[in-house]
Amino acid sequence: MSKRLFVVANWKMNPDSLGGATKLFSDLAVTARTARGVRVVACPPMIWLSECKRVYRGKMLALGAQDVSSHPTGAHTGEISAPMLASLGVGYVIVGHSERRAKGETLEEISAKIKQVVQTGLTAILCIGEHARDDHGEYLHVLRAQIVSALSGVTGPQLSQLIVAYEPIWAIGKTAADAMKPELMHETSLYIRKIISEKYGFDQSRLVPVLYGGSVEGSNAETLLSQGEIDGFLVGHASLSPLSFGAILKCAQASIKSRS
Ligand code: PGA
Repeated sequence: MSKRLFVVANWKMNPDSLGGATKLFSDLAVTARTARGVRVVACPPMIWLSECKRVYRGKMLALGAQDVSSHPTGAHTGEISAPMLASLGVGYVIVGHSERRAKGETLEEISAKIKQVVQTGLTAILCIGEHARDDHGEYLHVLRAQIVSALSGVTGPQLSQLIVAYEPIWAIGKTAADAMKPELMHETSLYIRKIISEKYGFDQSRLVPVLYGGSVEGSNAETLLSQGEIDGFLVGHASLSPLSFGAILKCAQASIKSRS
């Protein structure tokens, strides 16, 4: 567990107007000001990125993207490259979200995207997670395969540009009661770090923040942070309301104090 904490807002395909997006971004930036020491990142839909950047130039809320092309340039209609995101001032890119994997994104594409992001100097937020938990530990193989493949092109020094967001698919988009229990998260976090350390060594693996995502709300954030062996959250629906997002940030801020 590192002392740095991250709370990342994944807006998905919301809100549906430019005015709504810039208002939400500005409101989250105000909320983020109360969470000193927590790295807060908002990932609006691609089309709203530049206006969000324009309306808020402060440092308390960083800008992230929800996806990126696996190519640096060329004939790829409709795609947005990592250098384009970098030139806009985007610092973080979510890669391999389960909703993109469900649309056919392959392990190879995810690995190529991660490479693009880190080679461009941005930070990749690699999402991993199983569909279901079974009694035979098959889900552990799923997680291992997702991590090993995604990191195949990442060098040791580039690990400082990587965040892993563990998001069990069965816990996404529900309520706090359906989220993962902290003790299970603790085990899973150790397992994720073990896989990373097999390739890069123990010391390097400790540099990689491990986040949890899947129905994080103000009511479960505190126990997940204190018992889940995690370095923060990837937040979906609760990031669309400054009030609910603020409740999560409050827990993160309290947790920073107890870690130092
Ligand atoms: P949720 O989404 O917080 O709404 O469960 C998390 C995510 O899919 O990133």
